[in-house]
Amino acid sequence: MSQATNQSWGGRFSEPTDAFVARFTASVNFDQRLAPQDIQGSIAHANMLARVGVLTDDERDAIINGLNEIQGEIERGEFNWSVPLEDVHMNIEARLTEKIGITGKKLHTGRSRNDQVATDIRLFMRDEIDVIEVELKRLREGMIELADREAETIMPGFTHLQTAQPVTFGHHILAWQEMLARDHERLLDCRKRVNVMPLGAAALAGTTYPIDRHVTAELLGFDRPSENSLDAVSDRDFAIEFTSFASILLMHLSRMSEELVLWTSAQFNFIDLPDRFCTGSSIMPQKKNPDVPELVRGKTGRVYGHLMSLLTLMKSQPLAYNKDNQEDKEPLFDAVDTVRDCLKAFADMVPAIEPKKASMYEAARRGFSTATDLADYLVRKGVAFRDAHEIVGQSVAYGLKTEKDLSEMSLDELQQFSATIEQDVFEVLTLEGSVAARNHIGGTAPNQVRAAAQRAREALSALKAGA
Ligand code: ARG
Repeated sequence: MSQATNQSWGGRFSEPTDAFVARFTASVNFDQRLAPQDIQGSIAHANMLARVGVLTDDERDAIINGLNEIQGEIERGEFNWSVPLEDVHMNIEARLTEKIGITGKKLHTGRSRNDQVATDIRLFMRDEIDVIEVELKRLREGMIELADREAETIMPGFTHLQTAQPVTFGHHILAWQEMLARDHERLLDCRKRVNVMPLGAAALAGTTYPIDRHVTAELLGFDRPSENSLDAVSDRDFAIEFTSFASILLMHLSRMSEELVLWTSAQFNFIDLPDRFCTGSSIMPQKKNPDVPELVRGKTGRVYGHLMSLLTLMKSQPLAYNKDNQEDKEPLFDAVDTVRDCLKAFADMVPAIEPKKASMYEAARRGFSTATDLADYLVRKGVAFRDAHEIVGQSVAYGLKTEKDLSEMSLDELQQFSATIEQDVFEVLTLEGSVAARNHIGGTAPNQVRAAAQRAREALSALKAGA
């Protein structure tokens, strides 16, 4: 008679599991989060087994009622999770047998924990992707509306973080939106490969029972059963793809965060973030800190870490299932939670960004941001671009010495550098003239920004319709 602690596989063992080993190998403390999906998968499996005649209808009903009751016990916090029972799967199965007797032991016919856990994670990821997608859409909508509102608001555009050329604030926000549009595509693409059903692969080779995997797949809303049983129990590509999506998304949110942090500083003074997204300092009474963007920027690191964990977890694993795979859950759970929370924070915050228009305008006016416009003006009057570049360079040097922006110089002053310059130069030296002149698809002109916002709106609702 076996003395092993775990009755579900204790038959061939002659001594109980070492107490530390039992704790070391158990996953129930974290994989209990998969309980709803585990029960959902088991109900579908029981239905299929009854349909193909492996279970009687009465057995199926007893199993399904038992599982539904267990679901209630878990939701009410009454379920007694046991570490000796190792994981969520055996905890639920043991409880089922406790409740309905020997029939409970028939649920595991034609499956293994290997295909069971792979199915559970995929169901979980599908649910979480759908929640994440709602937040991502909300954020994109918020950005599109902010950009539309601020289509005429002028700010300095930067390269090398030095003032380069004037742009509109709306154009800048739509650049953010483009990053998220690509993330959105990656998420939906990842979902396609998540939504494939491993159940039926059993331990690794399939099963001798006359199962119908198309039935189970349909009951669970999967697009199709997986093609190969060895691949089905060992594949975690979808987890790597999700954390890869998550890493790129967080990299984007981190870049946006960095700009928000800079913009709220007194030195930039470009925007205000409402108090509800900031906190104070316990020692410096004047402080209002942009904690939300800072924290999002900081959380990027852990998500990159999860991607590295999963890539490394899978490297060198021989087919098919290996216990290593138990380590996929914690990185995945944390990646899901972090992405969802960061998107929610951003979706709440972005529509509340208050641009300080006068301050942005002043900053754009200061840094010779229309120098390129002056060069282009000279080229239009027949000066070669290289010569125009030199002429404008001299004008800027003069402006630095006299502390005048190009638009503040008199015609006489400008004509010192080129006789070609005439009164009409002031039309191109204004910030409004500069942005309005970039009037092509993808350009910063206010009417182009409004058109781009409209296209983005349409692309987003087309996605919604197709999803
Ligand atoms: N707790 C395991 C996991 O998360 C379930 C599958 C275990 N399978 C096995 N043959 N030990 O991967």
